[in-house]
Amino acid sequence: MCKPFVKWAGGKSQLLNEIRIKYPENIEKYCEPFVGGGAVLFDILDKYEPKEVLINDINSELINTYIQIRDNVNELTSILNKYQKKYDGISEDLRQDIYIKKRQEFNSLIVNCAKNNLIKKAALFIFLNKTCFNGLYRVNSEGFYNVPKGNYKNPIICDEESLNHISKLLKKVKIKCGDFEKCEEFIDNKTFVYVDPPYRPLTSSAMFTSYSKEQFDDNEQVRLGEFINRINKTGSKIVLSNSDPKNVDINDNFFDDLYKNYSISRINARRMINSNSAKRGNITELLVANY
Ligand SMILES: C[S@@+](CC[C@H](N)C(=O)[O-])C[C@H]1O[C@@H](n2cnc3c(N)ncnc32)[C@H](O)[C@@H]1O
Repeated sequence: MCKPFVKWAGGKSQLLNEIRIKYPENIEKYCEPFVGGGAVLFDILDKYEPKEVLINDINSELINTYIQIRDNVNELTSILNKYQKKYDGISEDLRQDIYIKKRQEFNSLIVNCAKNNLIKKAALFIFLNKTCFNGLYRVNSEGFYNVPKGNYKNPIICDEESLNHISKLLKKVKIKCGDFEKCEEFIDNKTFVYVDPPYRPLTSSAMFTSYSKEQFDDNEQVRLGEFINRINKTGSKIVLSNSDPKNVDINDNFFDDLYKNYSISRINARRMINSNSAKRGNITELLVANY
């Protein structure tokens, strides 16, 4: 089984069993407009070997990392191996110094990155993801990565075998960076589309996960609903995930209204509704499908 190369907020590894039930029998063409860590992508690449695949995400650093894994995996793992050796077996204080330096280096490459530094930037992206607090990717209003160091005893910074395997799986994959609407022209009646946008927050106090400088508010959810209506007309098969507002307000019909023409199922997921751990528990999430 192929696992994502990063930990990603909203990652679907825990929900794969429920999502798999919805996969069509054959997948010739596959598209994932909000790919994130790609839990579903790697599951599908492993099992179905589709002929044509397009993935997209608005986060340009994440997308650069996908491209470098696909095209330059040897150079990438050679840098990551060096990072791993430097980080192993040293005190937390020394690790903190290394972490801050690497974060500064990454942020300076965000501002000014020559083409020959793209591999280094991808290596730093993976390093930070493996050593930061909770694998979060969060940026400030200027777009700079600002997550503090996490406490892991022996983080695996360079999983060479897995990166080599992912590189092979990605060889035939087209990779785009931008808004989800950029995927529209690829989608036709042979395409299976899995759509996993930033979730609509369940409460106004819910921690907002900022994957990028842009916010994904209710207007964006509606714009996505219109996109779904358009690609539905192509005859593609579509599955979409989102949060279930009914966990906190039984009268909130936002998604039941937006996706009234589709089949909506509610699946069990263990997620945090509230930052208060006492209120963690089983909640439901939505899976919307057009078949
Ligand atoms: C819920 S996550 C996807 C998680 C993914 N399924 C996984 O398993 O890791 C949502 C993703 O949408 C991306 N995103 C946010 N706004 C976007 C937009 N307008 N167009 C495309 N991608 C967007 C974020 O960068 C983030 O990676």
